[in-house]
Amino acid sequence: MCGIVGYTGNKQAQDIVLDSLKKLEYRGYDSSGIALKEDKLVICKKEGPISNMEEILPKSNSSLAIAHTRWATHGVPSDANAHPHADADNSVAVVHNGTIDNYLDIRENLEEEGYKFVSESDSEILPILISKYYAGDLVEALHNSLSDIQGIFTIAVIHENHPDEIVAVRHETPLIIGLGNSENFVASDIYAVLKYTQQIIYPDDNQIVRVTPESIDLFDSSLKPLEYVVETVEKYTEVAEKGGYEHFMLKEIFEQPKALQDSQTELFIDNPLEGLSLNWKIGSISIVACGTSYHAGLVGKYVIEQLTAIPVSVDYSSEFRYAAPVQGVGGILSSRPLVVLISQSGETADTLAAARAAKQQGCYTIAVCNVPGSRITREVDGVIITKSGQEIGVAATKTFLTQMQALYVLGTHLAFNSGSLDHPQLKLWESEIRKLPSKITQVLNSSEGIKSLVPNFVNAKSVFFVGRNINYPLALEGALKLKEISYIHAEGYPAGELKHGPLALLGEDTPIIAVAMQDHTYSKLLSNIEEMSARKAPVITLCQKGDQHVPKISDKYFEIPEIDPVLSPFPVAVFMQLLSYYIAHELGTDIDKPRNLAKSVTVE
Ligand code: M6R
Repeated sequence: MCGIVGYTGNKQAQDIVLDSLKKLEYRGYDSSGIALKEDKLVICKKEGPISNMEEILPKSNSSLAIAHTRWATHGVPSDANAHPHADADNSVAVVHNGTIDNYLDIRENLEEEGYKFVSESDSEILPILISKYYAGDLVEALHNSLSDIQGIFTIAVIHENHPDEIVAVRHETPLIIGLGNSENFVASDIYAVLKYTQQIIYPDDNQIVRVTPESIDLFDSSLKPLEYVVETVEKYTEVAEKGGYEHFMLKEIFEQPKALQDSQTELFIDNPLEGLSLNWKIGSISIVACGTSYHAGLVGKYVIEQLTAIPVSVDYSSEFRYAAPVQGVGGILSSRPLVVLISQSGETADTLAAARAAKQQGCYTIAVCNVPGSRITREVDGVIITKSGQEIGVAATKTFLTQMQALYVLGTHLAFNSGSLDHPQLKLWESEIRKLPSKITQVLNSSEGIKSLVPNFVNAKSVFFVGRNINYPLALEGALKLKEISYIHAEGYPAGELKHGPLALLGEDTPIIAVAMQDHTYSKLLSNIEEMSARKAPVITLCQKGDQHVPKISDKYFEIPEIDPVLSPFPVAVFMQLLSYYIAHELGTDIDKPRNLAKSVTVE
């Protein structure tokens, strides 16, 4: 959350940091700001999107700047709470991502010492502390300040006495350094700098880095100089353009056949699973993730349990990290648990903490992640990269499909390893999975049919999504997509569960989306539809092509292409995404940047 970028070099910094900051706007977008080094430091900040700040930004020739786009934690979105924050005489400017847990105590002490505060932000203590400790060396001043604060943070600082220097540090939130030619960059993720460089340094927690146009100095937490490693990362070419689509979300929905295809090349040809040491007897599997990634994990549970008979649990990262140790650890190592962390961004604070907790307990950890080089990929034992390309819309779409696909392939791999699938069966699975891009294309080609359903929802008080078995997680995902971008209240339920409470809410203004695939739960689902219709709730049902029963008992229906029910979550997901998109579009919400949300959730 919050995007940070800094530039020091031989060019005008202003345009470069603004351009880079816009690539990070998905991290937070309630206000933004920039600090530039003129004779003194010049700070410009404004509530609202980056364009608001840009309108009032005077032209500057400075070649040193830091900038920030904010996702509010402490203090409402406002000009005063926007970053950069500065000390009283504007000698130090700081941008911060994260939260300072003990800021109230520090603020109280500083106020007693006579320091004045102008915002409600926890981050404002940082420039005041740094200025207080400053005695000519900015690295030392930051280092001394860090011993006062507790929390999680990425901090970048500039000082009026250091015309070409940015000092930065991270603790549990992301920070990268981009190396250029007589210019260097500081940022909260690589997307901000890929246009300028693919040479990246990834500092570890609590390492302080001093960046000038010609030098990078890295220090450990006792200020001992450290060697650093420069890595070359892959350039993403297609990022940050909408390519004729009205929103990134729509573009990303339509990119799904390609995303699945590219991921298949990775999974079946490059085959990262062969490189993972999964030949031991896996006692149980624990899947851990947040939000949409959690829903992919729930689908994965059904597939892996069906294929391997290995018990799979799925937990929210925020719960798993504080839960009792994983069962089986400390027991026989040959049947220890496998922990699969799923995170599109690879930076989600809770999922990272869960990965660390699992490692501490001796589990073998695998990350399913879309961002190579992201924090989680650097901390776990094995990585499966989903090749979706950068996802900019806050609502996860193409990464959900590629996460599910990775879990299906992981399931078949484990089943083959354990002897529950033979080689011809493995190949059959592969060939069915390879057909997914064309099935998804068929749903995309029916987008007008999905759009025509919108009038059923725009006045809804609440929308219920129901499914059973492998499509129960799709009910959860459908509800999440709808509430996230349309702000209509929505809930996902196992279809059999409505009669245990939620039926009390049903009526004419609570439409239902039911997923009725012809698996062993089909007849039960049809009965559930009857129950809901009997309470006057309009039911729109997703069914398989040629279904004879659904059209008779539903108010509306949508046929997905012919597919084995076990693979139906893929086309069903695309229906859910498009329906939410068209409803949100009709309601005029900010689809790519829904209110109160951010793409990367780097705070607890
Ligand atoms: O980057 P991650 O996959 O770890 O993110 C997890 C959730 O924050 C994310 O899936 C969120 O729920 C999406 N915005 C939903 O569309």
